Amino acid sequence: MFSLFKKKSSSYSATLMPSGKEIRVKRGENLLTAALSAGVKWPYKCRVGSCGTCKCKILDGKISPEIDFGYVLNFDELNDGYALACQTALKTDIKVMVNLKK
Ligand code: FES
Repeated sequence: MFSLFKKKSSSYSATLMPSGKEIRVKRGENLLTAALSAGVKWPYKCRVGSCGTCKCKILDGKISPEIDFGYVLNFDELNDGYALACQTALKTDIKVMVNLKK
């Protein structure tokens, strides 16, 4: 049946670079929580968008920031596509660069 409304996906994939590991991020979940649930050693401290430890660079795809990243990230980082994983929901599948903990 024809529908005028595009159904939203219930989850999106995030490909973590440089490893290429792929995780699923459910709608309503943030990128950091999904990564930690998948066993990824993503660096973090506060989980509320104030420390910047979870910083990552979105290489491809669209995100939905849950706060204004400008309080933590500088102008150059914002222009280069950096985001705070603990305050990032996904709007599409993404590719993201992150320096994981050893
Ligand atoms: S963990 Fe502190 S800003 Fe995300």
